[in-house]
Amino acid sequence: MDTIRARRNVRVYEDRPIPSEHLDRILEAAWRTPSSMNEQPWDFIVCTEPETLVQLAETWRYARHVAGSAATVALVAPVTADQDTRDWILYDMGQATMSMMLAAADLGVGSCHAALDDQALGRRILGLPEDRFCVGLVAFGYPLDRPLAPIVRPNRRPLEEVVHRERW
Ligand SMILES: Cc1cc2nc3c(=O)[nH]c(=O)nc-3n(C[C@H](O)[C@H](O)[C@H](O)COP(=O)(O)O)c2cc1C
Repeated sequence: MDTIRARRNVRVYEDRPIPSEHLDRILEAAWRTPSSMNEQPWDFIVCTEPETLVQLAETWRYARHVAGSAATVALVAPVTADQDTRDWILYDMGQATMSMMLAAADLGVGSCHAALDDQALGRRILGLPEDRFCVGLVAFGYPLDRPLAPIVRPNRRPLEEVVHRERW
């Protein structure tokens, strides 16, 4: 619970790398994520090269934080015309995202989502084949402002408003 309470989106990072064994642990968390029918529709591209990170930050106006991250993981999924399949893939990817973010938070590593708007640019940077697209990016790095610590009053709708018991 401390890890869940401490995770927040961190967009400014210290200029220091994440040790490779910690990065591996974050990726193991992604790998262990459950998925619909255990299809594991994902591939994860880990980027740590500063030049790549700067390029990825250009794919979406709210992805600027990626440029200063220590590592960014691109979530890659198969292109599909079937709406149901696509919906489940996105659900699975959301779970993988949160698994990585919690594993990172447990290590004191901050993280932040970024959508990827310019798919053509993302495809070129990441070298994706035609039958894959990038669902989004997850940036990681040590928080520059303040370390992760449990947030007492999170910016959320009241618990009693969102939780319904037995019926709506
Ligand atoms: C699907 C999804 C997409 C998001 N895309 C972005 C994004 O492109 N850029 C960004 O800075 N934050 C993005 N976020 C982060 C949210 O803004 C953030 O989780 C929310 O404001 C709550 O903040 P917190 O995680 O610090 O509690 C995204 C979050 C989700 C779940």
